[in-house]
Amino acid sequence: MRAISQNVAGGPDVLELVETDRPEPRPTEILVRVHAAGVNPVDWKTRARGTLVSGATPPYTVGWDVAGVVEAVGAGVTLFAPGDEVYGMPRFPHAAGAYADYVTAPSRHFAHSPAGLGHIHSAALPLAALTAWQALVDTADVRPGQRVLVHAAAGGVGHLAVQIAKARGAYVIGTASEPKHALLRDLGADELIDYTRQDFADVVHDVDVVLDTIGGDYAARSLRTLRPGGTLLLIVPPDDTFPADAARAAGIRATHVLVEPDHQGLREITALVESGRLRVEVDAVFPLEEAAKAHELGERGRTTGKIVLAVAP
Ligand SMILES: NC(=O)c1ccc[n+]([C@@H]2O[C@H](COP(=O)([O-])OP(=O)(O)OC[C@H]3O[C@@H](n4cnc5c(N)ncnc54)[C@H](OP(=O)(O)O)[C@@H]3O)[C@@H](O)[C@H]2O)c1
Repeated sequence: MRAISQNVAGGPDVLELVETDRPEPRPTEILVRVHAAGVNPVDWKTRARGTLVSGATPPYTVGWDVAGVVEAVGAGVTLFAPGDEVYGMPRFPHAAGAYADYVTAPSRHFAHSPAGLGHIHSAALPLAALTAWQALVDTADVRPGQRVLVHAAAGGVGHLAVQIAKARGAYVIGTASEPKHALLRDLGADELIDYTRQDFADVVHDVDVVLDTIGGDYAARSLRTLRPGGTLLLIVPPDDTFPADAARAAGIRATHVLVEPDHQGLREITALVESGRLRVEVDAVFPLEEAAKAHELGERGRTTGKIVLAVAP
């Protein structure tokens, strides 16, 4: 089978199209024929760094988000049968090898794909939507009427977070450049700040939950927008400017959230999509062999929604 592998750390040109053996599903695992693979910032960050979040070093096949069809199931699998359409973010933060014709992973790292969504849009969902779900719902327990601030609201995580917060009944404020405001209003955002023209910390107040997708000084500035008792969710690795002490003094919970495989979370996301409350925007699609071009585009940091690799016709 084909796979996009890397042997060394570096730029997009270290991504190589290779032929490798098709994996076999072990007990509790499923073998998935990958039709589409989602592209996430962690894909190019780990490519550039040459280390996975788990600490593993090359060679490895990059990528986590997959959507496809179950080809075979290992011993003991009861949730899926060959022919089922599934999606997931298997094995993260360990290598999953999503940029390939086939992947194997524990069955509960997947769920049935949303009915009628198609593989390209399904592959755009798992990592970004699970991040938003695990942060806003599992960690912050966003409630109706709460005020939620989402940074980079037009990005992969952000545009899904806006809708998940909205589906929980929150009042949603987003930061994004002005050309992206119309889309975000359409997705349900109540208030938008053009971060290129205004400092959000000067105009946003009394927030219950901040989803910080940027990091650096955004964390400290976001603290100023939060109510005592509020929650600051940071999804990039905290650096030494992370205001843990200031948050504690202000009665604010400040925490780093790292996404993990989550069958139940995916089922909730499937339900939101099927009920029309969650829509995933796909910005660009590249064939598997052009994974390097997908990384080049994503690394510019201007993506609206998601980038996806088309793997099978
Ligand atoms: N902890 C975890 O488990 C986890 C999971 C997923 C992602 N992440 C991390 O979270 C970050 C965001 O991921 P993503 O997939 O959403 O990224 P992304 O899709 O690449 O984000 C692109 C978006 O960011 C916006 N943006 C850039 N700078 C901004 C700023 N200063 N203020 C507001 N918007 C800004 C851009 O909008 P404009 O064009 O308007 O600037 C663009 O729409 C990445 O660093 C990623 O590695 C962590």
